[in-house]
Amino acid sequence: VVLEQFTGMDQLEKQLASLFGIDRCLIVSGNSDEQEKVISEFGVLVEEALRRELPDGRNIIAVMGGTTMAEVARHVSPLETAKRHNLFVPARGGIGEAVAIQANSVSALMAANAHGEHRALYVPEQLSEEAYHTLLKEPAIKSVLAMIKEANCVVHSIGRALHMAARRKMSEDEIIRLKQKNAVAESFGYFFDENGAIVHKVPRIGLSLEDIQKMPMILAVAGGRSKVKAITAYMKNAPKQTWLITDEAAANEILKGN
Ligand code: F6P
Repeated sequence: VVLEQFTGMDQLEKQLASLFGIDRCLIVSGNSDEQEKVISEFGVLVEEALRRELPDGRNIIAVMGGTTMAEVARHVSPLETAKRHNLFVPARGGIGEAVAIQANSVSALMAANAHGEHRALYVPEQLSEEAYHTLLKEPAIKSVLAMIKEANCVVHSIGRALHMAARRKMSEDEIIRLKQKNAVAESFGYFFDENGAIVHKVPRIGLSLEDIQKMPMILAVAGGRSKVKAITAYMKNAPKQTWLITDEAAANEILKGN
């Protein structure tokens, strides 16, 4: 049933894509806050989008972490063909989250399920300037970082700012500053206010927002009424080639408020 999305966009999908000025929206019925099955269906759509849109040749797919992405990874099935080979890399270093939802683990699972290759990036995401520059000189890290920068596809989620700040164990001071700046969304380690303006960046290793501007394929996966503000804020300035995969609960609420 979910695959109907690919035969023609329905009205809601068209409206949402046009509101954000992006290429495409795919909407799963239901509310992912309440029904876990909805997140599994995000996974089916991600898999189908990758199957249809990834070009032949060698693809590098950068994958972010989080609970949504971990569930999405479980639903990917073999994507290799005689002509197409896929290498999965974490989009960024670890972020002190539970192992199962770190980008390293999620990209490894996606690679295994897609029968593709995988490279891990064994560095914490938050680093001192000094440690950062030292690590950048390490050959093993340098080569994975180079692959990440060459990625032609990224799959990521969008989180709520304060929820993500707490989950990443940011300091009280940083959390107060995020509140003062009205941060509502987080993605790729950047925090955004309601207008989609960046109000804070976490110093990090891996993909930057600048890197994704020209990336040919971007899948943003987030749903549920609880993420409406976060999705709306991030999507305001998201690259136009982004496909938003979301659910009906979020889509209806976003369209009501805009
Ligand atoms: O950390 C990666 C990430 O995809 C972020 O971009 C986003 O803020 C967060 O995960 C979402 O996490 P969850 O899927 O658990 O809500």
